[in-house]
Amino acid sequence: MLHNDVAGIARAAEVLRDGGLLALPTETVYGLAADARNGAAVARIFAAKGRPTFNPLIVHVVSLETAEELVEVNAQAHALAKAFWPGPMTLVLPSKGRVADLISGGLDTLAVRVPAHPLARAVLGAFGGPVAAPSANPSGQISPTMAAHVVAGLGSAVEAVLDGGACGVGLESTILAPSEGGVRLLREGGVSREAVEAVVGPVVADLTPGRIEAPGQMERHYAPRTQVVLGSVATPGDVMIGFGAVGGDFTLSERGDLVEAAERLFATLHAADTLALTRGAQVIRVAEVPEVGLGRAINDRLRRAAR
Ligand code: TXA
Ligand code: MG
Repeated sequence: MLHNDVAGIARAAEVLRDGGLLALPTETVYGLAADARNGAAVARIFAAKGRPTFNPLIVHVVSLETAEELVEVNAQAHALAKAFWPGPMTLVLPSKGRVADLISGGLDTLAVRVPAHPLARAVLGAFGGPVAAPSANPSGQISPTMAAHVVAGLGSAVEAVLDGGACGVGLESTILAPSEGGVRLLREGGVSREAVEAVVGPVVADLTPGRIEAPGQMERHYAPRTQVVLGSVATPGDVMIGFGAVGGDFTLSERGDLVEAAERLFATLHAADTLALTRGAQVIRVAEVPEVGLGRAINDRLRRAAR
């Protein structure tokens, strides 16, 4: 475990330079990072997660200018970058072929993001290159929002975990594919659809699981070991996760706040799974949240966890 200090950041950059795997905090979730130009290091990401190689990775860079070295940035993408970078938004754009081929799994596009988390930015700065990073969880399981989640899920598969405490946004980035013809929404996430539409006008949602544009939008995902069922009425014995007026063993937000619910979502699923296994509960029941703003992304994750 590396600490949030000068030595920790220097060591983190060294792990990347040596072709190793580094778990690092971002404002969304912890990422499993490797040097994006090092094919062998990138291959280790897929192996560590048990991730199919047709599911491409997001590349993290320090700035829009750096992103422009890797992808063709059109006018729509520029507007989005100005509005939401650094932050929880990923843009899928035509690739210039400057990173390891394996990252995009044979697509001619590349997903890029400029994270806002100060530690992620410090590591990117110290390393000085593009960093490929999916969420730092075994493929299909709950995303990590704390260093301890990474250690529990991936443990010895990573050289180092940089501890940045709990992630502030708590949901993965919103993925957009902007082109002159319009902006497609490939994954709901930390920037709400409403906020995106305020910048570029109506988006076309392209979220159908199975018809995979963002292949990570696979049906079962974000899943605890225990069966998740959506609903606000628990059967005795269930572990219940409430929201607002709906109470339970846990609440995503007692005051019905979607930002707080997003921040707590994955940690609550992790904790509910532990409780369910301890108690011998067969079901984790989760109240859905209002389908507005970050609520769309929260419900998206809950529905995939429940498949
Ligand atoms: O917030 C986040 O985005 C976090 C942090 C670590 O940055 N990362 C993350 O990565 O959620 P991951 O691998 O769990 O999800 C990446 C998603 C997948 O659904 C993948 O299919 C999609 O991005 N993706 C990556 N490259 C793509 C491309 N060229 N075209 C379409 N979708 C792409
Ligand atoms: Mg993921």
